[in-house]
Amino acid sequence: MLLRTNKTKIASSEITPESAFRNRRQFLTSAATLGAGAIASSLLPASAFADALTTFPSKYTLPDALTPIGKAAAYNNFYEFGTEKSDPAHNAHTLQVRPWTIQVAGLVKKPLTVGIDDLLHYRPIESRVYRHRCVEAWSMVIPWDGYSLSEFINFCNPLPSAKYVQFISNINRKQMPDLPSEYNWPYSEGLRMDEAMHPLALLCFGCYGQTLPNQNGAPVRVVLPWKWGYKSAKSIVKIVFTDKQPRTLWNDLMPEEYGFYSNVNPNISHRWSQAHERRIDSSLLPHTIPTQMFNGYGNEVASLYNGMDLKRYY
Ligand code: MTE
Repeated sequence: MLLRTNKTKIASSEITPESAFRNRRQFLTSAATLGAGAIASSLLPASAFADALTTFPSKYTLPDALTPIGKAAAYNNFYEFGTEKSDPAHNAHTLQVRPWTIQVAGLVKKPLTVGIDDLLHYRPIESRVYRHRCVEAWSMVIPWDGYSLSEFINFCNPLPSAKYVQFISNINRKQMPDLPSEYNWPYSEGLRMDEAMHPLALLCFGCYGQTLPNQNGAPVRVVLPWKWGYKSAKSIVKIVFTDKQPRTLWNDLMPEEYGFYSNVNPNISHRWSQAHERRIDSSLLPHTIPTQMFNGYGNEVASLYNGMDLKRYY
């Protein structure tokens, strides 16, 4: 697979200029009003972030206690930097997040390459507190900063024949010396188009009012709070629109374990029961809580799956 990594030199003429984004903006009505109040067009320092949350409560904000940033940025899955939970925080400093581009390919009117800073300033950044549920039966509550993925997808101009979107993460062996050899890199994930266009799906540049720590998927990732955490690909360099269900790293590896949909479902056990989750913050009581269908976002997303047998399409 031909990938542009952040080592590949790209002529500036190939990168969509910010003015193009601005023009395009005028034509987008959109989901900006669907999310939380827009708090700023740039990321805020953490203290300002706390005020902003109080002033602009998001309809997606849940009453759960936030996981401290010290935990959210120290207990990670980012296998490109090692498979232990503490590895990414120790190792991901080698990831270079500038220059960075995202290539848009497949079933679009015109393939294009977007620079990360143009993408970052394309829409106002919103803060959204989401429950974050990993298939390993732990959970966190994280304030993510970004805007709806649908905003970017609209900008990409996918063709009506595009039924799915695939996200491909960066791979750079020099910057990832601990890359485990047993996986089919680069990391890839995918969504059906209506899932990707759902207002809960977030294109994410920061958390806790700060730019994303490298170990959390800098400089850009997706966050899909109703799905197992592994669907939320980190450090994205390419987005491909397709008419067929795209391959994904985990589905390729263990299809019986990691279905394409991967919606949080307490009724379907993986290698272990998914009925409960351990909250990653030892000060929170109870330590273990019941897992909710769609991670508690059923009111928002259940209709996406009307008529589907969720035992079959797990
Ligand atoms: N994206 C990439 N590129 N590589 C990964 O290993 N791990 C996934 C997902 N995205 C992963 C990834 C898994 S298993 C989870 S649970 C979440 O990222 C973890 O996100 P967090 O470390 O910010 O909590």
